[in-house]
Amino acid sequence: MIKAVSIDDLRRRASKRIPRMIFDFLDGGAGNESGLRRNREALDDLRFIPRALVDVDTIDTQCRFLGRQWAMPFGVAPIGMSGMVWPGAEIAMARAAAFANIPYTLSTAGTTSLERLKEASPDNAWFQLYYARDPAVADDLVARADNAGYDVLMVTVDVPRPARRLRDITNNFGLPFRPSLRLALDVASRPQWSLATLRNGMPRLETIAPYAPKGSGAQSLAAHMSSQSTGRLDWEHLKRLRDRWPRHLIAKGIMSPEDAERAKAIGLDAIAISNHGGRQLEGCIATIEALPAIRAATGPDYPIVFDGGVRSGEHIAKALAAGASFVLAGRAFLYGIAAHGPENANVTIDLLQEELMATMAQLGAPTLADIRPEHLFKNASAL
Ligand SMILES: Cc1cc2nc3c(=O)[nH]c(=O)nc-3n(C[C@H](O)[C@H](O)[C@H](O)COP(=O)(O)O)c2cc1C
Repeated sequence: MIKAVSIDDLRRRASKRIPRMIFDFLDGGAGNESGLRRNREALDDLRFIPRALVDVDTIDTQCRFLGRQWAMPFGVAPIGMSGMVWPGAEIAMARAAAFANIPYTLSTAGTTSLERLKEASPDNAWFQLYYARDPAVADDLVARADNAGYDVLMVTVDVPRPARRLRDITNNFGLPFRPSLRLALDVASRPQWSLATLRNGMPRLETIAPYAPKGSGAQSLAAHMSSQSTGRLDWEHLKRLRDRWPRHLIAKGIMSPEDAERAKAIGLDAIAISNHGGRQLEGCIATIEALPAIRAATGPDYPIVFDGGVRSGEHIAKALAAGASFVLAGRAFLYGIAAHGPENANVTIDLLQEELMATMAQLGAPTLADIRPEHLFKNASAL
C-alpha cells in the first residue's frame, strides 16, 4: 500500500510523471498566479491555539452534511478533463471516494459521462453543472443529472468567461492536443503516462459530447465548449434552477456575504465559498479570508462548503474552525493520482485523514464539533 508523506511530495512526483503541459494545466492559475498562491498562504498563515488535557484517545471524523453521514468532513472538488491527467482518473477517484465514504464531484467538463460515473459510484457522486448558454442544453443537462439520480447538484457561478491562464496560453494547451515538436518531446519523456493514454485513446468530454454540432471532431467540440461559457447566468436562472431541481442544490463560487445571503434567501441548500482555486480572477481575496464574513452573514447553521488552497489536514481543520461546514480539495487529489496511478486513488484521502486526525488530537478536539473558532489565533496578521 502506498503511503504519501505530504501533498507537496505528491505534487513533486506528479510533475515528474505527467507531461509538463498537463501538469501546468492542473497546477496553474489565473494571470501571474498570486491569487493561487494566496489561497494556500492565507491558510498557512492562520495559527492554532491548542487545548491540552483532553482525552483524545478516540478521534471521530464523521460528519453530517446535506442530510447524510460522511466518514470525513471533506470531499473531492470537480476537476474538468481529469482523464487527461491520467486515463481513468474520474472513475478511480469516485470509487476510492465511495470506499472511504466521502463525496466525489464530477465536472460537466469531465471525461466520463455523468451517467457512467453515477453507475460506478451510485451513493457518493455529486454533479457539478456549468449552466450552458444555450437553454436547451442547460435544461437537458439538468434533466440528465436528475434522471441519473444525483442527490447534489453544484452549479458553478464563477466562470462568466474562460480565464486567462498564462501557462495554458504559453503551452497552447487544449483538447485535442495540437501536434508540435515540443509536445512530442514532452509526451516522450513521460512513458508511463504515454502508454496509459495510448491504451485508452484520446480523452473526450463525454458528458457534453452529445451537444456538439453533428459530425464535429474533438477540435470543434472544444471550441463549442468554450462558446458555451456561463456568461449569461444570473439570479433569475438560479431561482428557476432552484424550482426545477428536486434535491440538494449548491452554488459554487460565492465570495461575498451579499451573494451568500441572497443564495440562502432563494432556498439554496448550501453555498460553496470558492474562487475556482485561483484560476479565474488573480486579484481575488483568499477563500479563507472570505469565510468569516460569509459565516456571520448567513448565520451559524447555514451549510457552507469551503475550497481553495487545501493541501493538508491542518488546512481542513482551520477551515472548519473558521466556520466551514464541509471542505473540498481539488488539485490535491489529482496530484495523488498523477503521482501513483488510479490504482492508488486512495492515497490523498488516506493522507488527509491521517493529518486531520493528528491535528484534532493536538487541538484537543476528539470530534468535529469540538473544533471551535477559539482554536484560531485571531491576531495572526498583526504579528
Ligand atoms: C485543473 C482544474 C480543473 C477544474 N475544473 C473545474 C470544473 O470543471 N468545474 C468547477 O466548478 N471547478 C473546477 N475547478 C475548481 C475546483 O473545483 C476547486 O474549486 C479548486 O480546485 C479548489 O482549489 P484547490 O485546487 O486549491 O483545492 C478546477 C480546478 C482545477 C485545478
